[in-house]
Amino acid sequence: MLKLNTGHQIPIIGLGTYKSDKGEVSQAVQDAIDVGYRHFDCAWFYHNESEVGVGIQAKIQDGTVKREDLFVVTKLWNNFHAKECVVPMLKQQLKSLQLDYIDLYLIHWPFGFKETSDSWPVDEGSAAYSDVDYLETWQGMEECVELGLARAIGISNFNSAQITRLLNAVKIKPSVNQIEVNPNINNKKIIQFCKEKGIVVTGYCPLGRVDCANDPDIPKPTIFDERVIAMAEKYKKTPAQIILRYLINLGITVIPKTVTKKRMIENLNVFDFDLEGEETDYIDSLNKNVRICSFSSFEDHKYFPFHLEY
Ligand SMILES: NC(=O)c1ccc[n+]([C@@H]2O[C@H](COP(=O)([O-])OP(=O)(O)OC[C@H]3O[C@@H](n4cnc5c(N)ncnc54)[C@H](OP(=O)(O)O)[C@@H]3O)[C@@H](O)[C@H]2O)c1
Repeated sequence: MLKLNTGHQIPIIGLGTYKSDKGEVSQAVQDAIDVGYRHFDCAWFYHNESEVGVGIQAKIQDGTVKREDLFVVTKLWNNFHAKECVVPMLKQQLKSLQLDYIDLYLIHWPFGFKETSDSWPVDEGSAAYSDVDYLETWQGMEECVELGLARAIGISNFNSAQITRLLNAVKIKPSVNQIEVNPNINNKKIIQFCKEKGIVVTGYCPLGRVDCANDPDIPKPTIFDERVIAMAEKYKKTPAQIILRYLINLGITVIPKTVTKKRMIENLNVFDFDLEGEETDYIDSLNKNVRICSFSSFEDHKYFPFHLEY
């Protein structure tokens, strides 16, 4: 567990749910709870919150867990950045998730889209953008805490300048910044920056999105690196476990996605070994600062976060 600036604890490993199909995610959530997951990462954009909610509810109903044992995260999508949209969106998402409150509500991206636009408005170009300032969005996020709908609030994909600007303006500080972290982009500078500000980092795409391994636009996941495979053999672990151990050693939480029960167990089981200094140095050397989630179609947006080094 890592401690948030609210005093609440966030489990170090959570289950990602992006691209978990509607037909399999309820069962995946139930399997995950059965094997020990207590942290779930969701989003409006994943279009499967109702099915996640069914899975959570089934395990509360059968007595395996209580609501307070779980740490559920969800995110506000870009079309709903206007202050007056935030509380209604969270209420709608809570209804889908069958929850009374969320443990952590995140602004998914610092840039907004018009409410009337597509949720992924590439064809509409900049005509689809909203220039609502994320400082305004944050006021809606604070209202979620004040109404008891969110225990903690945070951000995702914010750069250091955006975080500084936010910290200078807010009543309630962000507890978490969720960003891409895997050995192809270890993001050490922003992790350090967030630590200094008392913000916990959650790393997404920790395994480098294995299902896209053959996509030429995406860096090859490091679970296929020969030396990582050799480390796995040495420790009688899998390459995924080596990578997750490396990431946890950065002092962050991680949210590997899987719908496969065997892999859920594997991804949790990373606390009974550790890497040698030179093994860590080698995985550090794989850093290329290349993103999977570059969102480059939106790089002309006023609040696009990735023009800065970190
Ligand atoms: N905030 C943001 O903007 C943002 C962006 C992207 C992602 N996220 C969050 O981060 C989560 C994780 O990222 P991701 O889903 O993009 O990528 P990921 O977790 O790096 O990779 C997921 C892929 O890895 C496979 N996998 C899982 N465990 C494995 C293992 N032990 N060995 C081999 N393959 C394994 C999964 O397959 P199976 O499912 O078939 O087992 C799936 O295809 C997302 O689900 C989402 O919750 C947030």
